[in-house]
Amino acid sequence: MFHADVVTIFPEMIESFLEYGVLGRGIRNGLLSVDACDLREFAYDRHRTVDDRAYGGGPGMVMKYQPLCDAINALKLKEAGSDRKVICMSPQGRQLDQQYVNELVESNGLIILAGRYEGIDERLIESEVDEEISIGDYVLSGGEPAAMVLLDAVARQIPGVLGDMESAKQDSYMDGLLDCPHYTRPETVAGKRVPQVLLNGNHKEIEKWRRKQMLGRTSVRRPDLINAENLSAEDKSLLNDYLEDLAGR
Ligand code: ADE
Repeated sequence: MFHADVVTIFPEMIESFLEYGVLGRGIRNGLLSVDACDLREFAYDRHRTVDDRAYGGGPGMVMKYQPLCDAINALKLKEAGSDRKVICMSPQGRQLDQQYVNELVESNGLIILAGRYEGIDERLIESEVDEEISIGDYVLSGGEPAAMVLLDAVARQIPGVLGDMESAKQDSYMDGLLDCPHYTRPETVAGKRVPQVLLNGNHKEIEKWRRKQMLGRTSVRRPDLINAENLSAEDKSLLNDYLEDLAGR
């Protein structure tokens, strides 16, 4: 079973996150397990110090080598033989996307470092960390929210975590397209009607409309995700229809 440990100075933050939604259900159903590891348990001085001033000066503290190294070794020992990658959440890392998530799910687990302060002693990263992962080009105050993003994205790719309906839906846009718009009752709200095609019960038409929306939205909002040349003839024609509708409006 896939197992992740998150090394953090805020274990309660991770633990409460693990109770909710798809991830919480997956854990309760025994499809994956996640533990928060309190870094301060590996700091042995009176104040349980995990950080110190930066060499070279400047503001901000740096996370010390020893507590992190001891935590990683203890976690590796606990799951001996399981060859898990050590991941450090960091804006300096490779940016997370769906393909990267799918690669990580193939491993049998992860040890995730969620750092605070200005950073982690570089020697720890060099000697103990296999991969640094960023969740985007912005700076968070700590690695915990990033670790939660990673765990959520990984959990939903583990077989059985999503129900049949949810996985079927997921498959339909695993091909890297943005999702289509969704509507629920009432039929008219704030003077806006639900698109007629969704009301007529013609499933072929509905499928076509949804595909067209996915292609169109991706092409307009995220042209970097779509390469028109690689589209099937049918997709090309749906995308052309979408763009013509847009221009004619
Ligand atoms: N820690 C701080 N900022 C981060 C980011 N953008 N991604 C991952 N970890 C982080």
